Amino acid sequence: MARIPRSFIDDLLNRVDIVEIIDARVPLKKKGREYWACCPFHGEKTPSFSVSPSKQFYHCFGCQQHGNAIGFLMDYDHLDFVEAIETLAQHIGVEVPYEQGSAPQRAEQNASEPLYQALQASSDYYRQQLRAQPQAIDYLKQRGISGATAQAYGIGYAPPGWDNLPGDRSALLAAGMLIQNDQGRVYDRFRNRLMFPIRDRRGRVIAFGGRVIDPEDSPKYLNSPETAVFHKGEEIYGLWELKQANTRIERIFVTEGYMDVVALAEQGVTTAVATLGTAINGGQVEKLFRLCRQLVFCFDADAAGRKAAWRALEASLPNLREGRIARFLFLPEGQDPDSYIREHGREAFLEQAATADSLTQFLIDELLSRCDGATPEGRARFLDLLRPYYGQIPLDSLKHQVLQELEKRLGIELDARLFQVIGGAPHTAPARTRAPEQHWTPTRLAINLLLQKPALAGRAGNLDDLLDSGIPGVELLLQLLDRIHEEPDITPQNLLARFEGHPNEAHLYRIAAMTPAMQDEDSDIPRMFDDALQQLRQQQSRARLQALQRRLQQGHRLEEHEMQEYLQLLSERGRGR
Ligand code: UTP
Ligand code: MN
Repeated sequence: MARIPRSFIDDLLNRVDIVEIIDARVPLKKKGREYWACCPFHGEKTPSFSVSPSKQFYHCFGCQQHGNAIGFLMDYDHLDFVEAIETLAQHIGVEVPYEQGSAPQRAEQNASEPLYQALQASSDYYRQQLRAQPQAIDYLKQRGISGATAQAYGIGYAPPGWDNLPGDRSALLAAGMLIQNDQGRVYDRFRNRLMFPIRDRRGRVIAFGGRVIDPEDSPKYLNSPETAVFHKGEEIYGLWELKQANTRIERIFVTEGYMDVVALAEQGVTTAVATLGTAINGGQVEKLFRLCRQLVFCFDADAAGRKAAWRALEASLPNLREGRIARFLFLPEGQDPDSYIREHGREAFLEQAATADSLTQFLIDELLSRCDGATPEGRARFLDLLRPYYGQIPLDSLKHQVLQELEKRLGIELDARLFQVIGGAPHTAPARTRAPEQHWTPTRLAINLLLQKPALAGRAGNLDDLLDSGIPGVELLLQLLDRIHEEPDITPQNLLARFEGHPNEAHLYRIAAMTPAMQDEDSDIPRMFDDALQQLRQQQSRARLQALQRRLQQGHRLEEHEMQEYLQLLSERGRGR
């Protein structure tokens, strides 16, 4: 098991902003002091998923799912604990300090380990060859790639020859770096090629793409085969490098080729990725949308480019959520992002991107190109074509956009008949934030305030005698106070993390997610806290008084000190306390 020091996890939770982490995946809207969205963990139409910037946790009032940034990543990105920590650490640019000998690489000595090692060794070898071989360097230069960019993308060179790669033969074979022919001869798969390593989300080399240097050779690009560590349909070229170069990702350019990614990076556009010679699929689109809100698909204007763009549209449609945007950039005939940005520069490329087609535009343009929008028959055919795509749009706002576009471009009236043809009108119920039911008791208020400002514990005095009062929640309140007394400077997010796995964890989050009404935090919070404690003490006195009275009524004798207490309580009540 990988062991990570508690202090590091505390520090991480204090430094990352959960709002930023969640907002990149589930767009949030601010309302009051909290941020809200429709819960990603259960289906709902009105937002009851809240994220607290001050306490750094999320809580869904609908399904009760809750947690901090680590828990969110575990559930939403389907990561294990260590991976979630790694993700957050990477986000703020720090290394995870594993306790001695427990780093996960060493921990999970699995069957794939030799493959990773063989691939890394191959990568090292190719890079070293690149430095040594003038023809490879010349080729890169001629394509305008600097040493720094080649370095960032780990570009290397596989020299000619059949038997160059160093390392364990069976691991190299299993990793796809060697080929065994029918006669049993084993030789290097990549020869005289420029080598692009493909890295997984942890930065490990898992495959290569190799481009010919000699134009006589073919195929132009040769890719690693599927192996135990490389599944083409799941990987995205350049994604790891993109994350290395950017902390905040506004949009991602999805291109078709290795050289596009590298050439864009060379010109300072470090947010490009490429699929690996296949059409992008829904899983890949979702992966990218979890990193940023906007994807710009960049394709050539030719028939192949349009076809690829259409596949991208199909992959995107079901993955659209509120706030997610897919755009389609068609470069002038004969240009790809690489040639375009080299010829026209970064600004021109970004300008093109800014005017890229919206998904709605592209959807309608493409379908219109397949029929004649000027005739009634053509329009009927068009609606027929539109129907399955319209049905897949998961967002009413986008459905509205499509309908508006129909009205504008084709003069199609938005009437009942139309909705019959295309399969229904959008549900237009405007999304409103559901204010959670809040039932305040003094205990809940005290707990809530302590979770906002743990330092309030200093005002509490000794409350141990409350424990016998039987007031619900008092035990949790006292545990919370104990915790804070142990670590007086603890932050709200770390305090909550201390109750992970505690039997009352869910209850604690529920209370933490409530928002007491106040005007001015600085002055209201201490006053409200003092009031809550005073109410608790009064409740305690009343309960105690009643208990003693009951015993007297039942004919029991009170001990001397109990009698004194009884009289004291009576007189306090008389004074109206
Ligand atoms: P392109 O043929 O469009 O190449 O292939 P490119 O990216 O413009 O490359 P340069 O500029 O000529 O160097 C786009 C992508 O399709 C895959 C590769 O992933 C390539 O990056 N491809 C292409 C292959 O897998 N095999 C091929 O033979 C060609
Ligand atoms: Mn190209």
